[in-house]
Amino acid sequence: MDLPSQVSRRRFIGGAAATAGVLTLTPSDLALWAQGVPPVSPAQQGVRRTVSEAEWDSFAKLSSNENCYGPPDSVIQAMTKAMKYANRYGYPDGDITQEIADHHGVKPENVLLGAGSGELLDVVGLTFLDANKKVVGSDPSYGSVYQQATTIKTEAIKVPLLDDFRQDIPGLIAATKKHYREVGFVYLCNPNNPTGRIVTKREMKRLLDELPEDMPVLIDEAYHHFVDDDDYATSIPYALEGRPVIIARTFSKIAALAGMRLGYVVASRELVVKMRAHQTGTVNALVKWGGVAALKDTASQAQVKQVTIDLRQKAVRDLKSLGYESIPSEGNFFMVHIKRPVQPVIEEFRKRTVLVGRPFPPMLEHLRVSIGTESEMARFATAFREIFTGAAAAGAKSGR
Ligand SMILES: Cc1ncc(COP(=O)(O)O)c(C=O)c1O
Repeated sequence: MDLPSQVSRRRFIGGAAATAGVLTLTPSDLALWAQGVPPVSPAQQGVRRTVSEAEWDSFAKLSSNENCYGPPDSVIQAMTKAMKYANRYGYPDGDITQEIADHHGVKPENVLLGAGSGELLDVVGLTFLDANKKVVGSDPSYGSVYQQATTIKTEAIKVPLLDDFRQDIPGLIAATKKHYREVGFVYLCNPNNPTGRIVTKREMKRLLDELPEDMPVLIDEAYHHFVDDDDYATSIPYALEGRPVIIARTFSKIAALAGMRLGYVVASRELVVKMRAHQTGTVNALVKWGGVAALKDTASQAQVKQVTIDLRQKAVRDLKSLGYESIPSEGNFFMVHIKRPVQPVIEEFRKRTVLVGRPFPPMLEHLRVSIGTESEMARFATAFREIFTGAAAAGAKSGR
């Protein structure tokens, strides 16, 4: 999809990159990243390295579940206008917290902003975990809270997915009850990353009804806006019933603001106060105004949702016609069963300048593919045919 506003987006983004001076990922960083090895940060290296815009642009970026279209004009205009606050500490912020509260029918005291929802997932970890408190969650799921548990020098109690790759709700309940005294909180990603499968409304109710009633539950709804399945619903109403439920949302996906860093959680006032004490990040002026505009631009979000679903369905259909099944996904990504180890395949894609998702153990024969533009998806399809048709011929020759 070529959105008409793409030129002005480029201009804004190019200008912002020039202002920042450097981009700090090299192609080898990107390669490592695609393999699941986080790039060494400039601070760790003690040196800033650059990657040219041309190198960056050469990749089809299907590895991080981003929004490939960039923010719509309404959001870019709001952020551009907010540039006049760049030199200030105190400035009007568009009432972003109130706007989010109104959007969900909650009070501002129920909302905590973060520099991306990733910051807030860390904050939940810092609030509820310690050396004696663990997190319970599915395996695989979004790994950030589990990594945070390791940083805090505790552990995750991981419950394997079911055979159809849905989350095992009775298993999560049983694990939490069994380890009750040593559990700090339960993490549930809905829809789940990396599979894209949802937890249904009924399953969510069962989970929350059957868990010990004082057990904090972090429900990560990063991909909420892409869901089409009527059996899914947001869990925000549970937070308002006074249950210890924390709902995380991000502007990185549907709102295309990943690089600008804005997310929030909705929870009871009491939990918000508790969590705020552990916050370290700050949200910048530009994205506060961008976030307000994004909440209002539902038309462009509906457009992004539709084109994403159409391209996902097409990709899944095409792969099926080649004999490769995908897991039914409700996200802006999907997983295809490639029937062979994923790591070398990730490398093969990279050689063809297509970045795809990292390995998600124990699903090491599944490849996660983010939905990009139509032309990026065509590059993925071409690369897939090359990699898999070539391999089939080699396999046939060797008699395998
Ligand atoms: C499930 C999930 N939660 C949270 C995040 C973090 O998003 P951000 O920190 O950009 O808001 C991601 C990013 O990919 C994600 O997949």
